[in-house]
Amino acid sequence: MTPTTPTTPHSGWYLLAFRSELPVEPSPLAIGDRQLVALREGERVRVFDAACPHRGAHLGYGGRRESDCLVCPFHGRRIALGDSSRAWSVAEYPVLLWGDAVFARLSDDPAGDRGFERAVKEYADDYPLVPAVSLPVAVDAAYVVENAFDADHFKAVHKVPGVRGMTAGPGPSGELTVEGEFLMQTSPWQDERRKEEVRWQAIRTNTVRWDYRPRFLARAYSPGVVVTEFGPENDVQVIVTGAVPTAGGCTARVAVAVRENQHGALPVLIEGSRKALAEDKVVWEHLVPGAPERLDGRDAPVVAFRDFCADFPAAPEAFR
Ligand code: FES
Ligand SMILES: [Fe+2]
Repeated sequence: MTPTTPTTPHSGWYLLAFRSELPVEPSPLAIGDRQLVALREGERVRVFDAACPHRGAHLGYGGRRESDCLVCPFHGRRIALGDSSRAWSVAEYPVLLWGDAVFARLSDDPAGDRGFERAVKEYADDYPLVPAVSLPVAVDAAYVVENAFDADHFKAVHKVPGVRGMTAGPGPSGELTVEGEFLMQTSPWQDERRKEEVRWQAIRTNTVRWDYRPRFLARAYSPGVVVTEFGPENDVQVIVTGAVPTAGGCTARVAVAVRENQHGALPVLIEGSRKALAEDKVVWEHLVPGAPERLDGRDAPVVAFRDFCADFPAAPEAFR
């Protein structure tokens, strides 16, 4: 794994889990060494500090829900949920739900939101997210989101024939955007038969036509979450990539969404996302530790992303 400096969690959003990853009640979770516990209440998901304020038992392992409390598995005290007026209570963290994806923050500092809460409201109805990948990766979490800003890697790693533009800049709420155009013969989400037809046509006519020129528009709302709109205007697909730090690197998650009338595209999009992450993982997990970097002008969007991360406020030590 590449060398990582222990980083304080940032105050922005994390793609903390998919609903399907919270099968038990309560469910233990973590962001780096911050231990958390999730509870489901119907459609709602709530996330709390996991450490019992008495002597630090993890409430996600053996804690038992009793009305508005978790009963601690160590000494049986009743620990209130996000109610600091009570003698024993654990802090509750902000949570956003978008389709099957559960996003959480370790802070409610507005400076860390960067417009994500509004973006989720705007996307959620038309583009309900479904899980595509949840995968441990032995690399610093920052690499996963940085990937969207790494213009050259799309050709080298993912075999995209051409990439144009890819200019990064700040969005209206302090998110970081990068926008460009991919040059392709056909949609990568087409089924194999259609792709084969296009390949044969290119051979027959001895001309390669870049007929599919999807727009690529990615917005990083935190060092750990990027939302990408991909495709022509009438056929946009949404791909959300997130990374949560773990002891061995991070857990990378990808969730995808299409409009209701495009549902047929989902299986191919899910498969494509899995394949892409597997391709990235090979490179990430073999980065040479300590190798010096020489970034040049072509890496400008990566540099912009790193500046965005460096500038991001850290999460407070303790919340409420
Ligand atoms: S550690 Fe939870 S009650 Fe003692
Ligand atoms: Fe990639």
